[in-house]
Amino acid sequence: MDTHTHAEPNRVRVTHVSLDLALDMARHQAQGAVTLSIERLDDKAPLVLDALGLAIESVAGSDGSARKFTLGDESPAPTSWMGAPLSIELARGDRAVTIRYRTTERSDALQWLAPEQTTDGKAPFLFTQGQAILTRTWIPLQDSPGIRVTYDARIRAPAGLTAVMSAEDLGCDADGAFRFRMQEPIPPYLIALACGDIVFRPISKRCGIWAEPSVAEGAQRELDDTEAMIASAESLFGPYRWGRYDLIILPASFPFGGMENPRLTFATPTILAGDKSLVSLVAHELAHSWSGNLVTNATWRDFWLNEGFTVYFEQRIMEAVFGVERASMEKELALAELEREMKDLTPREQVLHVELEGRNPDDSFSNVPYTKGALFLMRVEEVFGRERFDRFLRGYFDSHAFQSITTEQFVEYMKRTLFLEDPALSTKIDLATWLTQPGLPSDTPRTKSESLAKVSREVARFKAGTSAAQLDTQGFVTQQWLTFLEGIADALDDKKMSALDAAFGFTKSGNSEIVCTWLRLSIANGYAPADARLAEFLTEVGRRKFLKPLYTELAKTGAGMKRGREIYAKARPRYHAVSVGTIDKILGWQG
Ligand code: BES
Ligand code: ZN
Repeated sequence: MDTHTHAEPNRVRVTHVSLDLALDMARHQAQGAVTLSIERLDDKAPLVLDALGLAIESVAGSDGSARKFTLGDESPAPTSWMGAPLSIELARGDRAVTIRYRTTERSDALQWLAPEQTTDGKAPFLFTQGQAILTRTWIPLQDSPGIRVTYDARIRAPAGLTAVMSAEDLGCDADGAFRFRMQEPIPPYLIALACGDIVFRPISKRCGIWAEPSVAEGAQRELDDTEAMIASAESLFGPYRWGRYDLIILPASFPFGGMENPRLTFATPTILAGDKSLVSLVAHELAHSWSGNLVTNATWRDFWLNEGFTVYFEQRIMEAVFGVERASMEKELALAELEREMKDLTPREQVLHVELEGRNPDDSFSNVPYTKGALFLMRVEEVFGRERFDRFLRGYFDSHAFQSITTEQFVEYMKRTLFLEDPALSTKIDLATWLTQPGLPSDTPRTKSESLAKVSREVARFKAGTSAAQLDTQGFVTQQWLTFLEGIADALDDKKMSALDAAFGFTKSGNSEIVCTWLRLSIANGYAPADARLAEFLTEVGRRKFLKPLYTELAKTGAGMKRGREIYAKARPRYHAVSVGTIDKILGWQG
């Protein structure tokens, strides 16, 4: 069913992962052992795991004696990202195996940062990124979102550094090692670890922020609505089932905006705008505590079940905590972005229930599962009404809690619950079109925000010749500025850029979303005064969502490509493998 794993879970299935690793921050290596508890459905079958970029030292069975194992070919092109099957011959009584191993420089989940790559610049840092199929690069296991595991871990870190994981924190043992345990079954991509010079600041009894010392207080203030978000999410979708909800603000090289590791969201510092304008990312990662972590896509084809539901919930949380208008702006902005992006996507990439056989799930990353997925759910809500739809969603989470499901299973569930209750209404939703066709269906809900309508009027005035300084932008919030910049994008030259910069100070903006959009327009219009800021931004920030449009814009001209490559030569060693993979392709970079 899952084409992105070598595992054969219907014969031998991993049920629990017990990690024991020592972190060598200087040699960029984690070394130790993992013990995998197994369930044997076919007692003649070997245990087959996924492994990529790992040095396997030995394998032992339940009784501690050695077991034969074979590690297949790791890099048969064109699917080298799949890794190799690690096949272990089991003895009759084996209920667990212990694999001694170490990570290598090809362990792409891990990013080891030198002190100068952190915000405070004083201590090394390590973080992992497992989703989609990178957990196999730091732990040999059955790396499929359909194979849920509980886990525990013992992590030895250098003195002075703190380790945190996506699990319950059990404190340190007698040797000073950090202990963790996750007692709910989770998909392996949610096993996550970070280690560095970090401190904790509380937000509420069950929520707080981990961050480097100089970042912690600002982050605590910026994110102090998180408890209100958790409370409103619970009243919408049912109890929060993970105990604590903490966030860690990572160094700027983190390749994503956020990653919903259970109990501990990993986040980029680029969401800290100073005015809380980018906190919808927290609503998003929090929403994954239901959609994604509680009910999980069984395969990467079903990724829209994770992200589409999560964007929908994110918007509901934003509406509950910050009001309808803020949520409307974000919805309208997201749809506009999806429509711009779709122009460059192949038809198959525009399909919600995407075909991924033979492809790296990471290569087909786009807004489609996110925004089109959320639009589908908004459409169902529109047809059935919010009350009924909310009841359906709660039932969906309750009945599928701690399970991984496919699109087919979701459709089947919807047909025998929501649709069966009201067959007449159900005919208004064309499931086949929404789930299997490219493009946006004609019944796509289109939110209209008053605040963004106001922006359109200023865009029109600017295009009709009103100077930047004369525009009425009083009180514009981030979402309005972003809409404004996209709106005028096709009417700029470097003189106009200069007037806009003089009036609004975009080049020196501390808001990552605004500065990223502005820098893209600066490249497109040859606006040289932003050159230094561009180089600085691309060297500091490793978030792929920002890097991709900027390098893509640079790559459009010969001179831009040359400049992009110069910057990249310096910045590349500072990026996580996920971002490197994407930017290498854009710039045609060879190793
Ligand atoms: N789970 C995703 C990040 C992800 C997806 C990592 C696929 C690896 C593979 C996370 O929840 C996410 O969607 N993050 C977004 C932010 C969000 C507000 C849309 C991001 O990182 O920009
Ligand atoms: Zn997400």
